[in-house]
Amino acid sequence: PLPDYSPAVVIGTGYGAAVTALRLGEAGVPTVMLEMGQLWNEAGPDGKVFCDMLKPDRRSMWFKKRTEAPLASFLWLDIANHDIDPYAGVLDRVNYGGMSVYVGRGVGGGSLVNGAMAVQPKRSYFEEILPQVDADEMYGKYYPRANAGLGVNHIDEDWFETCKSYQFARVSRKAAQKTGLKTTFVPSVYDFDYMKQEEAGTVERSALASEVIYGNNHGKRSLDKTYLAAALGTGHVTIQTLSEVREIIQQQDGTYTLVVRESDALGNVLSTKHLSTKYLFLGAGSLGSTELLVRARDTGRLPRLSEAVGQGWGTNGNVMLGRANHVWDTTGSLEAGMPALGIDDWDNPTHPVFAEIAPVPAGLETWASLYLAITKNPERGHFAYDAASDSAKLQWTPDQGQPSIDAAKSLFDRINKANSTIYRYDLFGDTRAFENRFTYHPLGGLVLGDATDNYGRVKGYRNLYVMDGSLIPGSTGVNPFVTITALAERNIERVIAEDGVRA
Ligand code: FDA
Repeated sequence: PLPDYSPAVVIGTGYGAAVTALRLGEAGVPTVMLEMGQLWNEAGPDGKVFCDMLKPDRRSMWFKKRTEAPLASFLWLDIANHDIDPYAGVLDRVNYGGMSVYVGRGVGGGSLVNGAMAVQPKRSYFEEILPQVDADEMYGKYYPRANAGLGVNHIDEDWFETCKSYQFARVSRKAAQKTGLKTTFVPSVYDFDYMKQEEAGTVERSALASEVIYGNNHGKRSLDKTYLAAALGTGHVTIQTLSEVREIIQQQDGTYTLVVRESDALGNVLSTKHLSTKYLFLGAGSLGSTELLVRARDTGRLPRLSEAVGQGWGTNGNVMLGRANHVWDTTGSLEAGMPALGIDDWDNPTHPVFAEIAPVPAGLETWASLYLAITKNPERGHFAYDAASDSAKLQWTPDQGQPSIDAAKSLFDRINKANSTIYRYDLFGDTRAFENRFTYHPLGGLVLGDATDNYGRVKGYRNLYVMDGSLIPGSTGVNPFVTITALAERNIERVIAEDGVRA
């Protein structure tokens, strides 16, 4: 049961939250983590914890009547999505007017549903987006610490060349090379040794059985197996699930009281409780943490929060697209759900792009090459408090996504020309070639140095901290979780050393 008081509270259990809880626990600080999603450790009737992408059930998504998969169609057929019962499933798609944002729900946050790609940004780009952060320290100390804590591993490159699972990636690499582009292997938190055994048929398949965005039953080092397990192992950290923080109130003595809504997995509210704390850490992700502070400011709960709260949000330039492969360039029906290769054209002076070569884990030959392009889109959105729904609504207009398409088009037009191929127009529910109406990489809202000081301390309030992806100003140039983790490592080390955080 939820206590009335805990010296430290962490909201959320994603990357920033998990790092924070581990380091607080190691420092001996009693810490409660509050997570609105479930703990995913019990098998369902089929003997599995998670469902796959081909036969999704209620475990797949967060209170939806129908799944909302990123690839909406195939040959314009609505075969990717299925009706499901509303339930506290593991993947949420939060639909705002002009933009939909995918986020993980459960103990481990995004680590439960993501593609496991563990990529560090180019140092020069890191210095561009976060100039006030000491890059020597980041690249010398905190990125290595993050990679170790996350269990990042590298693919056996000889195996890559011969395995069935990455035939799709080799086909895409050939097309990139023909265009004069370079590709690069991406490190991962999916265990590549396990994947080898999956292909050999000696273990139960997960990444090779169309398991990704609705969770992996095996192979993936999600946060519940790394940082969070270590945090619980300190003996000072506990996790409360199905507990959503709704409000943050400050008391006269400076402590914080949280209004926590406890529900069951069917969405029935069981109770509303209060939990007080001296040190409050926000790790609810770009959407979650930003909403909590926008709501607190605009309802008058925390009136000294700055105007910067809710600003500086970006999509990391995400845009998805498919190319049609030549009939002789088959990928086979087996595609590893975890990407292992990216096209690196980030040094392109006009249109920098890092395009991950993404699988289509459909279990059949699709003659498609799929990509998630990360581009340098300078547009930024912001969150506005909506009193009627008591929520923060993302303000992002469709035209703000155009720079992402322009950049991706410039790269993939070249690839298509060099290979005499065309785009796929059947994948996104209508006839568009580029899908920029969703993002996997929400970043910003509580930007480091704007809404907070240079270490995530919220401006205007003491002992209130932001530790997650909302600190990053809208773009990282690569997949973001290693950067979120490393930045949290840096910030929590400073906060514990300087702010007197103790039991
Ligand atoms: P994160 O979103 O992980 O965690 C926030 C947690 O807080 C969630 O568990 C949420 O339920 C909880 N929460 C929110 N509000 C709350 C409240 N009010 N009360 C209680 N709990 C609350 N990145 C990458 O680097 N490589 C990759 O391969 C991919 N691939 C990918 C695929 C897909 C499908 C998705 C959705 C995302 C990715 N990402 C990715 C992105 C990556 O997962 C993402 O950047 C991080 O998970 C963000 O970490 P945070 O710590 O910011 O929050």
